[in-house]
Amino acid sequence: MDAMTSTTTSAFAPSAAENSDERRPGSEWWRTAVIYQIYPRSFADASGDGIGDIPGITARLDDLVSLGVDAVWLSPFYRSPQNDAGYDVADYCDVDPLFGTLADVDEMLAEAHGRGIRVIVDLVPNHSSDRHVWFQEALAAGPGSAERARYMFRDGRGEDGELPPNNWESVFGGPAWTRVTEADGRPGQWYLHLFDSSQPDFDWSNPVVQEEFRRILRFWLDRGVDGFRVDVAHGLVKSDGLPDHLPAVDADSMGGGDEDVPYWGQEGVHEIYRDWNRVLAEYGGDRALCAEAWLPTVDKTALWVRPDEMHQAFNFPYLMTAWDAAAIREVISESLRAFPAVGAPATWVLSNHDVVRHASRLALTAENPQGHGIGPDSPGQPIPDVGLRRARAATTVMLALPGSAYVYQGEELGLPEVIDLPDDARQDPTWFRTAHERYGRDGCRVPIPWDADAPAYGFSPTGASWLPQPADWAPLARSAQEGDADSTLWLYRSLLATRRSTGLGAGTLEWLDGYGEDVLAFRVQAEGGAVTVIANVGTEPVALPAATVLVASEPFEGGLLPVDTAVWLATD
Ligand code: GLC
Repeated sequence: MDAMTSTTTSAFAPSAAENSDERRPGSEWWRTAVIYQIYPRSFADASGDGIGDIPGITARLDDLVSLGVDAVWLSPFYRSPQNDAGYDVADYCDVDPLFGTLADVDEMLAEAHGRGIRVIVDLVPNHSSDRHVWFQEALAAGPGSAERARYMFRDGRGEDGELPPNNWESVFGGPAWTRVTEADGRPGQWYLHLFDSSQPDFDWSNPVVQEEFRRILRFWLDRGVDGFRVDVAHGLVKSDGLPDHLPAVDADSMGGGDEDVPYWGQEGVHEIYRDWNRVLAEYGGDRALCAEAWLPTVDKTALWVRPDEMHQAFNFPYLMTAWDAAAIREVISESLRAFPAVGAPATWVLSNHDVVRHASRLALTAENPQGHGIGPDSPGQPIPDVGLRRARAATTVMLALPGSAYVYQGEELGLPEVIDLPDDARQDPTWFRTAHERYGRDGCRVPIPWDADAPAYGFSPTGASWLPQPADWAPLARSAQEGDADSTLWLYRSLLATRRSTGLGAGTLEWLDGYGEDVLAFRVQAEGGAVTVIANVGTEPVALPAATVLVASEPFEGGLLPVDTAVWLATD
């Protein structure tokens, strides 16, 4: 029944004993860590203004300890006009008053570290806000100035420069160029923005830009952060001469498919990360760089984590894999080959603030490209009641895999995507830049429920919430799940506790044969024992071998594993 078919070895995976020495190559914390993504504006609001903040995070750290995560990654909390929820940064070295102060961040860091939780912050190097002092200076200084050379200003095409410099399109929809009005009142140059027009792209060939980001890295490293999640890490360098993107269609996706896109994945980005790797190496404590690079394959993603570059890269090919056993098996195998081949850990992620939550996405019946979101009129609505079962099973598989895993706030509560947000509540620039054709990402960003009986489910003391929370979320609140051993919260806690006690996250994975093609079956040999994982991705119950069940994604009786269910079994 469980004959071994193939073996995938994570050659660089550390043993638990090696973990005790942080500095030994191969034993760094980020190789096996479970990292919890906090989206600050939707996590916990201490001030009561309806937007989550840093003191709110500090007050909830004990909940993260009891969940069992190793680290947190915070989406941006820097000074920003919030046109793209903080991914439009006006001052990289200050905290937006919406979220608190630098002193609040220092306190949060100290409190997290005191509890053994590492803290990764977000770095947004592809673009700033148009409110950044550099961009304001660039507008004032005019064509040909050193101030403009920090961004991508170009003359337009056409007789009077009335056409954009090329045909690139914004990820959020519409053209990627906006024309400015010069000081004399006449229409002038154009600037590039791969995202919203309020997010001008930096020119990374300019040494002044390079030096500024070294300074920003050091600013946060000096404050004690454990690393950076690097936004749009595949976009900083643009192809020489800024050629048109051919074909001009399909320019709106972050991955760009297999074609060569003149602004994604250009060779020059790697030199930037080699430079940053050296900056981090000046500091102790295994600080880490994690790339947000939407690339079509695991092999391409692995180029970002070669030994002298970043330490981790999000495994988006894994995230984008449908609920299909053969496809999941393939992406896991490829990941466990490609990342260790360059000395990096595989990483795993199922949800984040840019994609439809996996408790809904895994039951969608139509494609949903990253960032497009889903609303009441979208095709392929999720099959009712199926998404959460699949999400719990998928997480049960993910947290057994060798490597580091990311968990997005609220998935431990089984939160679904909020599909029926009122149109006038939506805030994602995608919604506006596509004239409401794409719903965008607000549905995965709704403030999370803590207390079933409190205003705003305990998110804020006043009941304010920047996006409305669904009326039926009381049973999903953390307080409601506390006392229910079958809840999603307890599933996550059990998985994380067992992962820790058995040493999962490291170890070697072997696929097991004989369960049928709709079943994922593998054994992980870890320091603290061997665990067999079986996930039923098919339509019929699956007979399990006799073994002790360590964790199951759903309660079940007898030796038959129900549909859309996964188990961890103790193995000799
Ligand atoms: C990244 C962020 C996303 C943001 C975009 C532009 O993809 O995750 O939220 O809108 O970059 O900064």
